[in-house]
Amino acid sequence: MSCRGAEKRVALVKGDGVGPEVIDGALVVLEAAGAELEFVPVELGYSRWKRTGKAMAEEDIDLIKDCHSVLFGAITTPPDPNYKSVLLSLRKGLDLYANIRPFRTRDLDFVIVRENTEGMYSGVEKLDEEEATTLRVITLRGSLRIAERACAIASKRQKLTIVHKSNVLKSDTLFLRICGETARRWDVPFDDMLVDAAAYNLVINPKRFDVIVTTNLFGDILSDEAAGIIGGLGLCPSANLGDKYALFEPIHGSAPDIAGRGVANPIGAIRSAAMMLEWFGEAGKAKIIEEAVEWALAQGITTPDLGGSCSTKDVAEAISKRLAWLD
Ligand code: NAI
Ligand code: MG
Repeated sequence: MSCRGAEKRVALVKGDGVGPEVIDGALVVLEAAGAELEFVPVELGYSRWKRTGKAMAEEDIDLIKDCHSVLFGAITTPPDPNYKSVLLSLRKGLDLYANIRPFRTRDLDFVIVRENTEGMYSGVEKLDEEEATTLRVITLRGSLRIAERACAIASKRQKLTIVHKSNVLKSDTLFLRICGETARRWDVPFDDMLVDAAAYNLVINPKRFDVIVTTNLFGDILSDEAAGIIGGLGLCPSANLGDKYALFEPIHGSAPDIAGRGVANPIGAIRSAAMMLEWFGEAGKAKIIEEAVEWALAQGITTPDLGGSCSTKDVAEAISKRLAWLD
């Protein structure tokens, strides 16, 4: 996963709630890792909506397209029936079709590769008094490009599992066929599993998984389940990748229940920043950040969600100090 020859200009969307707290933690760590990045702050989300009546404007996409990646905290959904999801607009606007979510602990290590632009989130919907419909759109192009991404990852690991519901959903017969053909072409060992069985097996026997590729909604749900299995939402990073742009964000939301107290877990954001460095071709720096995170977890330098008593800042600073030692 890399972005060769790109300038390292990053749109910084801290967002709402704990977003700014965890992103500030990630910035401290990036600085300690010696990352040379130029940040362009962009205000999107609830605070912007309160100020202007809009969470995001058309011009923001152009501003962001002047950068090559986005580091994103989290956004509180405004209480507005006409609100269009900022994250969905960014994923569509920047064509970030692959959502890569690695889940790692001392004894678990698997990746969910989620299609990010179509499926149940096609946006083709109708809401009437008597009936509401959402069109689940699966295309050859969409399936092929996510299958390629997943196979590229699986080819460096053990195997691919295609998660679907093709026994009920016709749309998934296309997804399953394309993923299978792609895996065969890549010569990647693969199997497939119905999504309900996958949800069960993730809890019962998560070690059987290595790389999972799945459609948008299934990937959304399974990745929150996976976060629970490895110890919590606060630990998990993600990369939203397209062919040109990339957006990196912790998988959690703005956590209004703990916002402002300085206790949010910054590790998901720090790991997302490490994934961004890897994408910028700095795999060495990404690796030492990951090692420092694992060290902090092993030492019990953790926020209250993991049973510790450290603040967001304490955790980010401990990881930064450890980086100087690892370097
Ligand atoms: P959430 O992920 O914000 O919180 C769920 C639970 O996990 C809460 O108990 C929270 O305290 C905890 N949690 C989340 N991040 C944590 C962290 N870093 N450290 C410690 N604990 C953490 O999901 P929720 O409550 O459903 O949504 C809150 C707001 O966030 C909503 O407005 C929602 O629409 C928005 N949201 C935004 C996302 C994004 O911008 N990517 C993703 C998910 C939700
Ligand atoms: Mg989600």
